[in-house]
Amino acid sequence: MSKIGIIGAMDLEVDTLKSKLTDVTITKKAGMEFHEGTLNGASVVVVRCGIGKVNAALCVQIMADVFQVTHIINTGVAGSLNAKLDIGDILISQDALHHDMDVRIFGYQLGEVPQMGRLEFPADARMMELARSSCARVCSDIKALFGRVVSGDQFISDNEVKETLINVFHGDCAEMEGASIAHGAYLNKIPFVIIRAISDKADGSAEMDYPKFEKAAAEHSAKLVEDMVAYI
Ligand code: ADE
Repeated sequence: MSKIGIIGAMDLEVDTLKSKLTDVTITKKAGMEFHEGTLNGASVVVVRCGIGKVNAALCVQIMADVFQVTHIINTGVAGSLNAKLDIGDILISQDALHHDMDVRIFGYQLGEVPQMGRLEFPADARMMELARSSCARVCSDIKALFGRVVSGDQFISDNEVKETLINVFHGDCAEMEGASIAHGAYLNKIPFVIIRAISDKADGSAEMDYPKFEKAAAEHSAKLVEDMVAYI
């Protein structure tokens, strides 16, 4: 029997999903409210983990230990690093990595967490496909691409930083939690996928665009997730 952990960093990324839950039990832990219930026929736990990589990592471990989830979905918004991804479009993670890890001095690649034996954390292939078919079903007017999520404790709004994330890490979108969720899911052997709708272009226009588009973008991602959980 599947139990799906659904993690968003901010209220606007999970509020609609929470409002659709039935048979809800709420558990508070580490300053987070875990809403356990049924969504579109599936057994789920929905939570707002808070912003940034530490909050996200803590949340994954609670999902694993306390709720024993079998799958993890991270839903939310991101800045685009790929010219093919416009505001409102969706990026489905192929993998995720930490762009702010730097232990090159000891021979590791930029972004590589020492002693993990890998740079990127691969998403579950079946969940990626399910996300793509859900998008075709419920958001057919929205473009969805597979790609790489790059995460750091940093809002990207500078053209030069953006170029680095593209050239060095080959990222398709930038956000602040995905790699930690991927990393935690990998360590706990839980299949995961990250679904991010584009709220801005992660450049000089991000400061203006993000507040304007974050809500609509978050809703795109949540709509896809609501459909997808029924097929896991
Ligand atoms: N989330 C949404 N847009 C972002 C950006 N430009 N940088 C980091 N996280 C984001």
